[in-house]
Amino acid sequence: MPLADTPEYSLARPRTSPLAPPPQYSRLRADDPISRVTIWDGRLSAWLVTRWEDARAVLGNPAFSSDQTHPGFPGHLPDLPPLPHGFFANYDPPVHTTMRRALTREFMIRKIDALRPGIARTTSRLLDGMSRPDAPVDLVKRFALPLPSLVICDLLGVPYEDHEYFQDRSRVFVDGTATGPQFAQAWEELNAYLLRLLATKRRSPGDDVLSRLAEQVDTGTVTERDATDLAVFLLFAGHETTANMIALSAVALLRNPDQVPRLLGGPDEVVNAVEELLRFLSIVHSGLRRHALEDVTIGGVTIPAGEGVIIAGNVANRDPGIFTDPDRLNLGRADARRHLAFGYGIHQCLGQPLARAELQIALPELFRRLPGLRLAVPIEHVAFKKNTIVYGIEELPVTW
Ligand code: HEM
Repeated sequence: MPLADTPEYSLARPRTSPLAPPPQYSRLRADDPISRVTIWDGRLSAWLVTRWEDARAVLGNPAFSSDQTHPGFPGHLPDLPPLPHGFFANYDPPVHTTMRRALTREFMIRKIDALRPGIARTTSRLLDGMSRPDAPVDLVKRFALPLPSLVICDLLGVPYEDHEYFQDRSRVFVDGTATGPQFAQAWEELNAYLLRLLATKRRSPGDDVLSRLAEQVDTGTVTERDATDLAVFLLFAGHETTANMIALSAVALLRNPDQVPRLLGGPDEVVNAVEELLRFLSIVHSGLRRHALEDVTIGGVTIPAGEGVIIAGNVANRDPGIFTDPDRLNLGRADARRHLAFGYGIHQCLGQPLARAELQIALPELFRRLPGLRLAVPIEHVAFKKNTIVYGIEELPVTW
């Protein structure tokens, strides 16, 4: 098919519900589940994968590379200048394996469980600071963003006082309209910031991830460059994800108040409720991006070597072949945990135990402490992030 006739894959497509993927992609899942699309204003074509089985097949297959330096890689930005060093998630084995190993211990469930009391205290303190509104309160600014930001700063050993500096730069990484030079500048500044911090930790270590990375640099397990790269990724991934999940979950629950009691139930119900919110909202709505290293046949379609693939996890997570009545938020859903919201395969989200802990603590506490929580503006006036790589909400005026 000539490129001009190929549909464009665009984040900004109209949605019939702000909490569901654009309907066009659900139609593709039914009619043409591995379809040709274009990106970058029609300049590049790629394959869009929308079914759950096919998404897993691509993400679990080493013939699909995450390395953005392959010519024609379907990256989020068209004009990205070559960076002196990449993003951790964009490496393939064996480099990726070594880098990920440097962090695996930090995100083990037992280790993250030890952070739960601290996360609960921070949640409580932020909610204390929000009581008795005499005017609408922005839930993003007062709760959804500071919570994961405070937690990741503490975990990494990054001073929270610098949060505006690194939040501004992290935002550029998920801005689908950023220019290549803007991205490169944010990347360089955040790298320089974390490189300085790593040097400080090498001189005076603390009980934090950066200090332990600095120690691994000293023992030669990772290079200083790799340690900085890992730290940049963690700092950015630590807030641009969970913060959006908290804000979107609040809206999803306010629109489905019959579901709130399940969130306030026992520990197992809370765990399941969070899995369902992760499935239903699937905030990484811009697709996971890969490059075929060889010809691979997926779902009966041969993707030729050298071509790009976009895995639409948000569409796959509503595949009716896997999830019954997938467009319904059902916090009691038995199979919610099969979702691909954290990806699948070797790049599956490293921070998922942390994200889960934060959501399992923050969301029930928000609704328990503020039972009268409601939107202070009509839903049509809520500023959803349309052009960002991670879906979310800019500002969420609420009252109670
Ligand atoms: C609800 C919150 C989150 C969601 C939905 C999410 C989603 C994802 C997804 C889909 C991937 C796979 C990317 C790919 O395959 O190309 C990923 C990777 C990753 N995430 Fe998360 N994430 C979340 C929170 C976090 C947090 C809190 C951290 C760290 C503090 C984190 C750290 C990472 C890292 C380091 C990777 C790269 C793993 C690798 O390439 O081996 N994420 N995340």
